[in-house]
Amino acid sequence: MFITFEGGEGAGKSTQARLLAESMTAAGSTVLRTREPGGAPGAEVLRGLLLSREHDWSPPAEVYLHFAARAEHVARTIQPALARGAIVISDRFADSTMAYQGYGLGADRNLIAALSRLLPVRPDLTVVLEVSPAVAADRMAGRRQALDRYEAMGPAFHARVAEGFAAIVAAEPDRCAVVSADGGMNDVHRAVLAVIASRRPSPA
Ligand SMILES: Nc1ncnc2c1ncn2[C@@H]1O[C@H](COP(=O)(O)OP(=O)(O)OP(=O)(O)O)[C@@H](O)[C@H]1O
Ligand SMILES: [Mg+2]
Repeated sequence: MFITFEGGEGAGKSTQARLLAESMTAAGSTVLRTREPGGAPGAEVLRGLLLSREHDWSPPAEVYLHFAARAEHVARTIQPALARGAIVISDRFADSTMAYQGYGLGADRNLIAALSRLLPVRPDLTVVLEVSPAVAADRMAGRRQALDRYEAMGPAFHARVAEGFAAIVAAEPDRCAVVSADGGMNDVHRAVLAVIASRRPSPA
């Protein structure tokens, strides 16, 4: 099983990916938690190039860099873990490229959709965490690190990203589930577990 968490900045993706991995591990599953951009040594190098504010990539170059990182992540980390029977939980995946580069930056959405279709793996379930802009801003303010390239983009960019995630969910309702992430982290975690329980094929 391959599960991805998606959503904007400060939605709680990393927190919820960790909580889900912990509860699935406690329930006896073998879980691999990973993230994008990154998730494999070479992909983490590309992450540095993508998130650094030193570079202002052209939109198509940025799309290809994300997919180069993803190709490495899929080949080196995700596919081997799935092959040994692990549940893979990724903090972001291809939907982030559609939302951030496609909707946010105006990169070619057909290109992104085509590259996504060519990937050898597809999430079984994508949890899209939806947070109100005020709550996201509060959570981001609680952090001490300097803003990365995407975090530094303005509210209009982040509104387009949110619109992108909503369009993805509308287009693929069987794969995607929206979970409201404004509540406390344990409430959100319970909502995530409920989604997983409701989507799992019932035992024969
Ligand atoms: N439900 C919640 N209630 C309150 N605070 C939360 C909640 N979920 C996460 N946080 C806190 O908000 C901050 C952002 O959460 P987190 O890092 O999980 O978000 P993220 O979606 O991974 O963000 P990014 O896209 O920037 O990686 C963290 O400081 C985290 O501890
Ligand atoms: Mg995170």
